[in-house]
Amino acid sequence: AASVFQPQDIDPSKLVLEKTKSPKTLKKPEDLVFGRNFTDHMLTIEWNETTGWLEPRIQPYQNLSLDPATCVFHYAFECFEGMKAYKDKAGRIRLFRPDKNMARMNKSAARIALPTFAPTAMIDLIAAFAKLESRFIPEQKGYSLYLRPTMIGTQKTLGVGPPGSALLYVIASPVGPYYPTGFKAVSLEATDYAVRAWPGGVGDMKLGANYAPCIVPQREAMSRGFQQNLWLFGEEEFVTEVGTMNFFVALRNRETGQKELLTAPLDGTILEGVTRDSVLALARERLVPEGWKVEERRFSMKEVAEASAEGRLIEAFGAGTAAIVSPVRAISWKGQLINCGLKDHEESGELTLKVKSWIEARQYGDEEHEWSYVC
Ligand code: COI
Repeated sequence: AASVFQPQDIDPSKLVLEKTKSPKTLKKPEDLVFGRNFTDHMLTIEWNETTGWLEPRIQPYQNLSLDPATCVFHYAFECFEGMKAYKDKAGRIRLFRPDKNMARMNKSAARIALPTFAPTAMIDLIAAFAKLESRFIPEQKGYSLYLRPTMIGTQKTLGVGPPGSALLYVIASPVGPYYPTGFKAVSLEATDYAVRAWPGGVGDMKLGANYAPCIVPQREAMSRGFQQNLWLFGEEEFVTEVGTMNFFVALRNRETGQKELLTAPLDGTILEGVTRDSVLALARERLVPEGWKVEERRFSMKEVAEASAEGRLIEAFGAGTAAIVSPVRAISWKGQLINCGLKDHEESGELTLKVKSWIEARQYGDEEHEWSYVC
């Protein structure tokens, strides 16, 4: 019988390790700026349509050399992930829910005709990479190694079609608390002239092409004194996301007085955040027994404004890998400033702080849990 050629999946046992000859000097943790400093090495894996995935390499951090016609530059064949590695009390390196990131990356890649891979193989490689860069991970709480798996189409062609070759790489950036001056509540401007995502679109994928168009509305909000913009959708002005984070609001039900934690549902317009999922799971585990209702459903800006006006809005926060949670002070909408439940001197609501500490306990391994993957 004719042999059927099977393109290779990623094979961690074929890892080629080339260590740097010029190790970097470590920055003082307090001087770290998010995403500005990188470790000594990078993980790279090339793919092409005839062979499949080639041998993984960990090599010194270096520039890529790509032809100007490479398809990523023209048609945005790019997807990425954001995940973190933490150092626990025993000095072990832990990834937080890496299976979620790898599943999402495969989904993003498949949507833009880039190759997929075995998630467990990639987790093994990322774990090996994070361990190798251990000295870059500060031990203090609030610090971690931000990992950026990235996949690009590398075929040299202006023809619009599926890339015949691709590069998957992972770079790593030591990071401190997202808000170096301390946990600070942000004020938002509801964007009414642009939408981030729409039904049938790709707003639920982590594609680079989703992020560039967010900068102008973000800059507009900033120019009027707000730190972030709030994304709404449709005539009903459903609240969807805040900047690059998922959005949560806690309020009291008008009729029953029951406390509710709300976030937008995964209807294809919402990024399937790992932090979002973690907040929901912890809330269902720990708030529901206290009488809370936890809901993924559509809710409108009008509903939020009414809750605020009637004194029923408890607190609101953004949730994402970079900041974990980001407390919200107020939302500017239709010329009104909607207060999100904080007193003037407060920088966070109680629930936001509680959620942050619950998640951190699992990230740093203070609470042993299956979400934490020991490298
Ligand atoms: C997050 O982790 O909240 C993000 O999506 C931000 C990242 C793109 C820097």
